[in-house]
Amino acid sequence: MKYYLVTGAAGFIGWRVSEFLLKEGKSVLGVDNLNNAYDVKLKEWRLSQLKNYENFKFYKLDLSNFEAIRILFEIYPIKAIIHLAARAGVRASLENPWVYVDSNVTATLNLLELMKDSGVKKMVLASTSSVYAGHKPPFHEELKVDTPLSPYAATKKSSELLAYTYHHLYGLDISVVRYFTVYGPAGRPDMSPFRFIKWIYEGTPIKIYGDGTQARDFTYIDDIARGTILALKPLGYEIINLGGGRNPISINQMIEILEKLLGKKAKKEFYPFHKADVMLTWAEIEKAKKLLGWQPEIDLEEGLRRTVEWTLENIDLVRAIKV
Ligand SMILES: NC(=O)c1ccc[n+]([C@@H]2O[C@H](COP(=O)([O-])OP(=O)(O)OC[C@H]3O[C@@H](n4cnc5c(N)ncnc54)[C@H](O)[C@@H]3O)[C@@H](O)[C@H]2O)c1
Repeated sequence: MKYYLVTGAAGFIGWRVSEFLLKEGKSVLGVDNLNNAYDVKLKEWRLSQLKNYENFKFYKLDLSNFEAIRILFEIYPIKAIIHLAARAGVRASLENPWVYVDSNVTATLNLLELMKDSGVKKMVLASTSSVYAGHKPPFHEELKVDTPLSPYAATKKSSELLAYTYHHLYGLDISVVRYFTVYGPAGRPDMSPFRFIKWIYEGTPIKIYGDGTQARDFTYIDDIARGTILALKPLGYEIINLGGGRNPISINQMIEILEKLLGKKAKKEFYPFHKADVMLTWAEIEKAKKLLGWQPEIDLEEGLRRTVEWTLENIDLVRAIKV
């Protein structure tokens, strides 16, 4: 029996990708350091869901610790790696850039070295639309992305580059998937959909950085999980956008949809727009259609409806989570 090594398995995308694989009857080896970048209760909730599956194994490990993961590669036969673990979040990366280098660069390098030594051929590597900062949307994979606006974007771009080098030198097969603002049930509490739903529900004022006209190409978690698994096919080295690919939706429009779904008006507080943020993200997704036969299926209204539904079903957990 061979395992899919899913790094960041207690994270938002790692949890859902693991669940999809487990439902298909695959075996998953999950690794996560359960760091406190956001409230750990949510990571524990996601893990509790995965632990219902017999063919799920979990290790609390830090991927920047080479020895710790080397042992894992000795114990388990690994079929492929879905590398989702990272410090995510643009603004937080200005406060502690070192931890971003450890988790996003050193951790990726450790995995690539272990792939080379152990003969594991395939990795799907999570990257981000943040690398396109400074370009005019829609963002195409061929754009030259050499001007990252935050340590977060710089470390994700660095990990793409290391992956290319290991592909070139050792023939590793790597699909880099650049995600565009992923949202959905049990999503990240440091991102707007989770916070806005919680704040509107609780009657707490919503914090908006800028005037709310900044727009995102929101992508529903199940579409992302499906695309990530499709990217396991052999491709050599390819960079592929996984994004909504429709007209981006502004923060103000998203709030309007949430107000309708929750039957409650939001109170809004405006703060200055942050220099490390971008005004608009929008994915060109022709390559994903061509190489993976992938396109998103869930639009924002339906995705937010499902997210609100999950929130209301798990309201005690959501209320207890610090944002
Ligand atoms: N959610 C989005 O909108 C989005 C957009 C673009 C890219 N991404 C990328 O997708 C991936 C998954 O993001 P997410 O939204 O699920 O974030 P997340 O923070 O929910 O998940 C990441 C997980 O990785 C774990 N982790 C971090 N550093 C680690 C380390 N050194 N060792 C072991 N585990 C570690 C964390 O504890 C966390 O559970 C990340 O690589 C992120 O950069 C996400």
